[in-house]
Amino acid sequence: MKQGERAVFASKLGIILATAGSAVGLGNVWRFPSMTGQNGGASFILIYIACVLLLGLPCMLNEFIIGRRAQANAARAYERLAGGTPWRFIGYFGVFTGFLIAGYYVVVSGWCLQYVYASVSGDLTGNLTGDLAGDSKIISNYFDTFKADPLKPILWLVLFFALSHYIISRGVEKGIERASKIMMPLLFVLLVVIAVAACTLPGAGKGIQFLFDPDFSKIGGSVMLDALGQAFYSLSVGMGCLCTYASYFKRDTHLTKSALQIISIDSLIAILAGLMIFPAVFSTEVIDPGDGDGLVFKTLPYVFNKAFAAVPLVGNIIGVLFFALLSVAALTSLISLHEVCTAFFHEELNISRRRGALVVTIIGIIIGIFCSLSFYKTEIGLFGMSLFDLFNFVTGQIFLPLGGLLTCLFLGWYVPKRIVREEFTNQGTLRGRFFALYLFCVRYICPLAIALIFLHQFNLL
Ligand code: PHE
Repeated sequence: MKQGERAVFASKLGIILATAGSAVGLGNVWRFPSMTGQNGGASFILIYIACVLLLGLPCMLNEFIIGRRAQANAARAYERLAGGTPWRFIGYFGVFTGFLIAGYYVVVSGWCLQYVYASVSGDLTGNLTGDLAGDSKIISNYFDTFKADPLKPILWLVLFFALSHYIISRGVEKGIERASKIMMPLLFVLLVVIAVAACTLPGAGKGIQFLFDPDFSKIGGSVMLDALGQAFYSLSVGMGCLCTYASYFKRDTHLTKSALQIISIDSLIAILAGLMIFPAVFSTEVIDPGDGDGLVFKTLPYVFNKAFAAVPLVGNIIGVLFFALLSVAALTSLISLHEVCTAFFHEELNISRRRGALVVTIIGIIIGIFCSLSFYKTEIGLFGMSLFDLFNFVTGQIFLPLGGLLTCLFLGWYVPKRIVREEFTNQGTLRGRFFALYLFCVRYICPLAIALIFLHQFNLL
């Protein structure tokens, strides 16, 4: 379906599911639970939700407003509103960030596919003996050996990028929208099935309590700032992704309502991810929930196997479902990163969409290969970090908050208020009751909060 010359998402549901698909990803199932584990559980979740509403919502609206107003890829969208001033570089910066995130994101996505395969074939848990220390070592070694392999992870990441390429080259409505309409419900069903299975384990209550019974003594400065950063990452804010998707929204799409729906879905899925992980972890009574990044690829396969040991094969089936779920979540996010870059090449170089997608796929795979190889040869890196860790750190901790901060300043202080209000109220057809509150957040609260994240990250706070 076209709106003038430009593609649009055909339905309201399509808009919500595609954009929620971008937001829901490894950030929800991989990053959020490990952060919750490290930061003491329920109290972290409460602060996270406050950050999502106070910071994430206005920043998401910013990008919706810019994208729908300008009807162009991220780079040109900022350029159109910036009228030749240096503000226009925010959009280019977003496309650049998109490549870097896609490059390491696809590596982790490839690991998920390998784990689906290894859970089915029994490679992952087939050699376990029942001895606690020995078994967790076997699984831990499995992961370390696999990710440092020079070939296997690359084959999976190429396959993953090819899947994303296929969806993107089919277009906005037939590709992104249709795929999201299939994948998002599938993801939800998988999550609920695993969460229910995990919550009915003996001893699961302690995990549920960990998630919902806040211990306010755990709230310190760093917990609050971790929650802010995670809110950004999880909502895909700060690199033009939401802006690109919003350029496919219809003129009468209710931006505030859509943003609230997307944020609710993203938060619900993060909490459900906690509900499938912590009850299982606590029921085994042996694992420290604050295990960090290893939680998903080292701890969980072991935990599932042990927690469901009473009935043969159930642990394996849950493992397969879990990594399939993670792969689906990662794919809907990768296509959004892919789309930001594809729309850029397609429109800026005036080449066909398919060609644009191909250019992105080739560059993305090359970056992905280098990221993956940085586990094989640790000298592939910069500033004392492997390339993978560098891109993960620099994008999540610096580029996304920086993009969000600049966008707040741009929209709050540079773009005429009239334009912002017009877009917020769909050209005056909506009452826009929350406009003043929104503008206050964009002008003051968000820039201040994001500045705090930075000060914290550079140890100035
Ligand atoms: N929001 C995605 C996740 O939670 C990550 C992402 C960040 C995707 C930025 C696109 C842009 O996994």
